[in-house]
Amino acid sequence: MSGVKENACDFLFVGGEVIDGTGAERVRADLAVTGDRVSAIGDLSNMLAGRKIDATGRIVAPGFIDVHTHDDNLLFCEPDMTPKTSQGVTTVVVGNCGVSLAPLVLPDGPPPPPMDLLGDSGDYRYERFSDYLDSLEETPAATNAAFLVGHSTLRLNSMDDVTRPAKAGEIDAMAKIVDEAMQCGATGFSTGLIYGPNKAAPTDEIIALAQAASDGDGIYVTHMRNEADKIDEALEETFEIGRRANLPVVVSHHKCAGKMNHGRSRETLARFDRAAKSQKVGLDVYPYNAGSTVILTEMIDVAERVIITWSEARPEFAGCDLAEISTELGCSKKEAAAQLIPGGAIYFMMSEEDVQRILAYPNSMVGSDGLPHDSHPHPRLWGTFPRVLGHYARDLGLFPLEDAVRRMTGLSASEFGLKDRGVLRQGAYADITLFNPKTIIDSATFEQPMTQAEGIDLVMVNGGIIREAGQLTGARPGRALRRNN
Ligand code: ZN
Ligand code: CU
Repeated sequence: MSGVKENACDFLFVGGEVIDGTGAERVRADLAVTGDRVSAIGDLSNMLAGRKIDATGRIVAPGFIDVHTHDDNLLFCEPDMTPKTSQGVTTVVVGNCGVSLAPLVLPDGPPPPPMDLLGDSGDYRYERFSDYLDSLEETPAATNAAFLVGHSTLRLNSMDDVTRPAKAGEIDAMAKIVDEAMQCGATGFSTGLIYGPNKAAPTDEIIALAQAASDGDGIYVTHMRNEADKIDEALEETFEIGRRANLPVVVSHHKCAGKMNHGRSRETLARFDRAAKSQKVGLDVYPYNAGSTVILTEMIDVAERVIITWSEARPEFAGCDLAEISTELGCSKKEAAAQLIPGGAIYFMMSEEDVQRILAYPNSMVGSDGLPHDSHPHPRLWGTFPRVLGHYARDLGLFPLEDAVRRMTGLSASEFGLKDRGVLRQGAYADITLFNPKTIIDSATFEQPMTQAEGIDLVMVNGGIIREAGQLTGARPGRALRRNN
């Protein structure tokens, strides 16, 4: 190397071990950041640096990518993104489960569930998808964001009655919006086919919209019609949509719900294997044996235990067990749940064996599905990534640490088309998480869900430090990741 410029950088991580996000074994190396990029990796002991960061005993990894979030509105109302950045997350994918904040303007009054997962009616204020992205660029958050446009949002936008299949003209109108969203940088299209505004959509309606996403080089991401007894049919529908619209599909928060279905992940993952021979299929998963969403009375009997996460009618029940609430109210659990709507709940309904089998599947990405507006949220919101690294990789030895990191970085960036992210190599964006492999662990529990994880030392986004030693720096270097841009 010659010249001063090549031998200087803004930040130099010194003396750590680099896990690059591809699954490759860690290497002992220094890492230099110049501007918003990684400028060198290797023995850089002679390099001048604006600031040297001691990485001794630490892992230097790509910042984690949360591929399954409902952070559309959190980016605005809590731009430091503390539930996520405290875990080392540097990019969130929003608009999952058919629910995106844009494009939709809702009238006053409570939003129809599950739109209330993102906030109040007033938060739905973007007439066009591009308005939402522009607004985020005007007031950036600490993390990057990539975007899906949701089918429930489209149906509420373009139909007067969402309880029936869309008519031809309505499908055209929605396809046009998907096309616009893709042109301004969306990553793809999502559905949430168990939810009221989305479930009346037949397969052909979904294919027409997935086709519009496909034309824009996007992907299809789905909370499937069924995750319990009819999971086989739901998977086959998903794969059919991918084949007929000719685009990659991602199955969200894959699980086998309900006692009768425990153990079935052996079959479902075999279905993924078979489909993968002829098309692109992916999946994400969170590391817990309980799910969470709005209160759905049909899920009460599927779950072994239910905890209320929020309730409009009875806010004092947030954090309480539904069994105790029903005793107090003197009615069945189902009737008690019905009285608490609108609200949210945690449902214990998966087996640990399935959770581990799905997590260990080579193609599984990590996604939190965290619900940031719940008053007593599922702990996945604050704990997902350190739990996979500390509990599942280190303590249980489910997979090597390098593979755990790949499932939350390199694999995710490649499946969601996030260019030059998710890996550490010269020229990649400097999204970096520095963590202690010996101490990293989730602290959030079902009882105390809003607790910061341990072991995250420093988090950098696009070359700017957003967290250090457990403190926010106040920097908000996050970007709107517009596809093909
Ligand atoms: Zn979902
Ligand atoms: Cu979700």
